[in-house]
Amino acid sequence: MSHNTFGHLFRVTTFGESHGPAIGCVVDGCPPLIPLSEAEIQRDLDKRRPGQSRYTTQRQEPDQVRIISGVFAREVDGEQVTTGTSIGLLIDNVDQRSKDYSEIKDKYRPGHADFTYDVKYGIRDYRGGGRSSARETAMRVAAGAIARKVVPGMVVRGALVQMGPHKIDRGNWDWDEVGNNPFFCPDAKAAERFADYLDGIRKSGSSIGAVLEVVAEGVPAGLGAPIYGKLDAEIAAALMSINAVKGVEIGDGFGAAELSGEENADEMRAGNDGKPLFLSNHAGGILGGISTGQPIVARFAVKPTSSILSPRATVNRTGGETEMFTKGRHDPCVGIRAVPVGEAMIACVLADQYLRHRAQVGVIEPRWPFES
Ligand SMILES: Cc1cc2nc3c(=O)[nH]c(=O)nc-3n(C[C@H](O)[C@H](O)[C@H](O)COP(=O)(O)O)c2cc1C
Repeated sequence: MSHNTFGHLFRVTTFGESHGPAIGCVVDGCPPLIPLSEAEIQRDLDKRRPGQSRYTTQRQEPDQVRIISGVFAREVDGEQVTTGTSIGLLIDNVDQRSKDYSEIKDKYRPGHADFTYDVKYGIRDYRGGGRSSARETAMRVAAGAIARKVVPGMVVRGALVQMGPHKIDRGNWDWDEVGNNPFFCPDAKAAERFADYLDGIRKSGSSIGAVLEVVAEGVPAGLGAPIYGKLDAEIAAALMSINAVKGVEIGDGFGAAELSGEENADEMRAGNDGKPLFLSNHAGGILGGISTGQPIVARFAVKPTSSILSPRATVNRTGGETEMFTKGRHDPCVGIRAVPVGEAMIACVLADQYLRHRAQVGVIEPRWPFES
C-alpha cells in the first residue's frame, strides 16, 4: 500500500496496524542540532492517549514513545539533539486484546473503511480496523511534536469549538481553559454543557460529531507557494487526511460566502514593528497560498464515531444482507482526541513549508517595506 508518507522536505512516513506489535514513524529532513527528548514527544502524545476521561474510549494504551534513531547527545553539554538523519519513533501496542474477530471478519461496519479496503485490496486486517484505525494518528502527533520545534517561535494550539449542535461562545474564548476540561474546550461554560450532553450520548451507546479549530501563531510571512503548493491547500489536505474528518475551513471558510467585499477585506496599515498591521483576519493568515504573518486559522469537522450500540444494516463479504453493532470500547465523540492530531498535522505542514521556503528563496530574504 503506497501513500504512507507526507511532506516534501520535512517528510513523515508512518507504519503499523492497530493490533500489530507496534506502530511507528520515520521523520526525515528534520534539521540537525534541535534539542529533542522523548519527554517532549510524550507530552503531546499524552493529550491524544485514550482512557483519560469517561468521554473517550476506555482502551488502555500508554502510548510510550521511544526514539530509536536520529538523535545524539552533543559533546558540549550532553543535551540530546537531532543529528539531521532520519528520526525513528516507535510505540508498542500493548492493549491489542486477542479476541474473537468472527463477528467483524466478514461483515462491513457502516462508516468504517472495511468495505473500501476489501474492494480495493482484496484483503484487510480486520483486527481493530488495521491500518485504517485512528491508532495511526498517534504517530502523526509524535511527528508533530518534532515539527513544532523546526519553526522558531511557532505556537500551534487546537480547541474543540462545537459538539453536535452546541457551539462555544467565542466571546468566552480562553486558551488557558483548554487544559482544564476533558474536551479541549476554550469556553468553560460550554465545556459544562458538553459534559451533560455527551454523558447522555455515551449512556445511550450513540455518538456525535464535532468542529475543531487550530490556530498557528508565530508563523513568518512568506511560507507557502503559488498555484500547486498553496499553504491553505496543503493544510486542507493534511486535515482531511485525519480519520473521520469530513470538512475543512480556512479563516472564515464557508462563512466568507455570506460576507460582502467590504466586510471580508482584511485592511492593512503600517505597523510600528516593521510589519504590516492587519485590521482583521478573515483570510485565516493566508493570501495567494502564502502566509501573511497573521495567525493561521483552520477549522475541521469530524463525523460521529461510527461504532455505536444500535444495530445498523450492512452486507457481508459474500454479498449477504445482515446487521452490525459494536459492543466494545469506543469514543462517543472522536472529535475530542482529534484536537492534538489536528495541531500536529498543521505543525508538520508548516515545518515542511518553512524548510521549502528556504529552498525557494535562497539566502536573500525579501524585507518589507521595500525601498522603491
Ligand atoms: C482520534 C480518533 C479516534 C477514533 N476512534 C474511533 C473509534 O473508537 N471508533 C470508530 O468507529 N471510529 C473512530 N475513529 C474514526 C475512524 O477511524 C474512521 O471513521 C474510519 O477509519 C473511517 O475513515 P473515514 O471516517 O476517515 O472515512 C477515530 C478517529 C480519530 C481521529
